[in-house]
Amino acid sequence: MMAFPNPLLLLLLLLMPHIWGKCIFDEVQSSIRVLSPPSSFNWTFKEDDAKREVSPKRQEDWLTHVQIQDHQNAISQDFPHERSKRMIRDGTEVIKKLQPIRIKTWTPRESAVLPQWEKERLDAAVSDAISTVSKLLAVWRVSSTLLLHRDINKYCRFIWRNRSAANFNKCGRASDNYRTESCLGVTIPDEHLRGCAVYPHPDQPDLKVIKQDGTGLPDTDVLLYVTAQSTDKCRADSSVLAYSAHCQSDSEGRPLAGVMVICREPLSSEGFSHEHMVQTVIHEMLHVLGFSKELFSKWTDRSLASQRGMDSNGQMVYSDEFGQMRLYSPNVNKALQKHLNTSHTDLGAPLENQDADFRGFSSHWEARVLQGSIMTAMLPEPPLVQIDAVTLSALQDTGWYAVNQSHGQNLLWGENEGAFFGSVSTCIRASSFFCTGSGFGCHYLHLHKGVCQSDQYLEGCRIYKPLTNGSECWKEENETGSGPEVWSGEIFHLDSRCFLSNIIKEDHSSLNASLSGRCYRHRCTGRNRYQIQVRGSDWLNCPPGRSIKVFGYHGAVFCPDKRLCHYQDIAPPTSLHKPLPSLLPFMTSLSRDQFLTEKPTTGLRFDFDPSFLKTSVMTTMGVIAVLFFLGSFMIIYRKCYPSRHRVHALLPYTIHV
Ligand SMILES: *[C@@H]1O[C@H](CO)[C@@H](O)[C@H](O)[C@H]1NC(C)=O
Ligand SMILES: *[C@@H]1O[C@H](CO)[C@@H](O)[C@H](O)[C@H]1NC(C)=O
Ligand SMILES: *[C@@H]1O[C@H](CO)[C@@H](O)[C@H](O)[C@H]1NC(C)=O
Ligand SMILES: *[C@@H]1O[C@H](CO)[C@@H](O)[C@H](O)[C@H]1NC(C)=O
Ligand SMILES: [Zn+2]
Repeated sequence: MMAFPNPLLLLLLLLMPHIWGKCIFDEVQSSIRVLSPPSSFNWTFKEDDAKREVSPKRQEDWLTHVQIQDHQNAISQDFPHERSKRMIRDGTEVIKKLQPIRIKTWTPRESAVLPQWEKERLDAAVSDAISTVSKLLAVWRVSSTLLLHRDINKYCRFIWRNRSAANFNKCGRASDNYRTESCLGVTIPDEHLRGCAVYPHPDQPDLKVIKQDGTGLPDTDVLLYVTAQSTDKCRADSSVLAYSAHCQSDSEGRPLAGVMVICREPLSSEGFSHEHMVQTVIHEMLHVLGFSKELFSKWTDRSLASQRGMDSNGQMVYSDEFGQMRLYSPNVNKALQKHLNTSHTDLGAPLENQDADFRGFSSHWEARVLQGSIMTAMLPEPPLVQIDAVTLSALQDTGWYAVNQSHGQNLLWGENEGAFFGSVSTCIRASSFFCTGSGFGCHYLHLHKGVCQSDQYLEGCRIYKPLTNGSECWKEENETGSGPEVWSGEIFHLDSRCFLSNIIKEDHSSLNASLSGRCYRHRCTGRNRYQIQVRGSDWLNCPPGRSIKVFGYHGAVFCPDKRLCHYQDIAPPTSLHKPLPSLLPFMTSLSRDQFLTEKPTTGLRFDFDPSFLKTSVMTTMGVIAVLFFLGSFMIIYRKCYPSRHRVHALLPYTIHV
């Protein structure tokens, strides 16, 4: 049995930065100048009048060399039937074939030398993430090796600007101090880069090679430099587990190369969770591949945004009448419309407004509407996260990928709830998704017990969130064999789920139980049809949406509707990793190691869970009092440390087409 922890100790825990995590992707990406092929350079170089800047209009003329044909109808709901497309580039026809994406990783020389076990953790997580993503996406492959570009603004001291000169836009003189290309602090090896040359005369073909073409990377559509390091960004905020950015794109804007930094501390921590790291890497990878606000304007199909009478500067995100920022992209829109079962045809998908820059949105879905999606800013524990159809549609709307929708996972959150689901004004009514107050109940997937809480992404809406310790009904280790567990007939078992219940064993009838989340076994008898078993009871039919009595108990158990035996992919994780003992001795009495390490994720934000508040040792009143106390403390804490809510400086767009 756990002793009631000293409140001071709790405060100490609250202050521990580990508890907070954040996705710093937007912040990182906005600091990167993305390189695209030379045809789309941003000319900023000024040497003399003859080599003056090219106006945007003239750049456009130049761009007409690349014509893309067959683009619009090449993307269909599943992988398209049309598996190739033709491009005319500089008069030469290039055939591109649609095939599963090949993501290659490369360990840059800056990467720390990892002990074997850490390296195994990293490799296993990255390779599982890549295997998941490669099943989801296909690209139009170019049948050659991948070679990255060099930045002409770096290797060149001046560029010929005279349009009638033969060497127009070519490098006239090499820069003396040019070494190589880098991306997010990672050196790109020469073998991955195209060569470069200078043309000393504006009209003559003589050239001097500065760097030879590298050998390139065969069988590669996207190159990811993966490095495990304890960088300044990791150290500045220990809740950051990983971050990423893309640095190079092809002529159509598709990211070709990026960097993913995995912070050393969480990787080496004893509470490391493989599933959690995999999801984090997938999340970051999807950002790199195109789920990025810096890239929305490069997505190919802007018909929906322009239908709305919006200007056509490639802007895809607009505020709706309630101030919610929404992404207007056709397949995303359709997927959300289907998910919410609404007749609204131009709903647009809501984007997270927390951690946003001056534009008011971030590269994440709004947590109130798409809770549980892999692309929300805060990932809960692994079995509660899905790679959902709305996210897959976003990747499809980039125009760079064909998405195999049959790999999409079911998102129960908000299903069939209509267009206004999750708005700040409707969530204050208790429903099967949102709760009010701060009592105990069940997480909406019913795998965990939960406590009714809000967080900064929910903007006042409250949901039942799992406790950090001991709330998984499916974990047999959570059984303590004492307290309410006994008199409420709980069973912790792989097939146990959470039920709202106030049953009490008849021989404990002096107790007065309030409704709370309790773990009982369940077994499916059909779709949305199931039976439950309470300690000592037979299997009982539990009609969805109704409540049942249990022989030998007072009170009732409520049977959730369309939650259990509804979707097969909503289940406990298949591989359960045994947690190791905690690093900090005083923590062991309070929470599992998970408390420190599974929660603070990669670029993902985590909230604090009062795991240590076990009903078995406290009255409900006491729990509520402590929650209230902690709640107020957290408010004070946040007020004292306003820097937690970052305000981004105005940053110019750094991507150029
Ligand atoms: C999509 O995924 C499903 C399930 O793995 C697979 O059977 C199907 O062949 C895939 N479709 C394509 C076009 O690859
Ligand atoms: C541009 O190049 C053409 C052809 O080489 C030359 O006749 C012309 O004088 C040049 N113009 C300038 C402004 O240098
Ligand atoms: C979707 O909405 C329609 C109209 O409101 C309703 O008839 C239908 O039952 C809903 N579908 C589901 C699966 O809830
Ligand atoms: C909660 O954490 C403590 C310390 O790690 C552990 O001893 C206890 O068994 C956990 N409780 C449950 C229900 O898992
Ligand atoms: Zn993110």
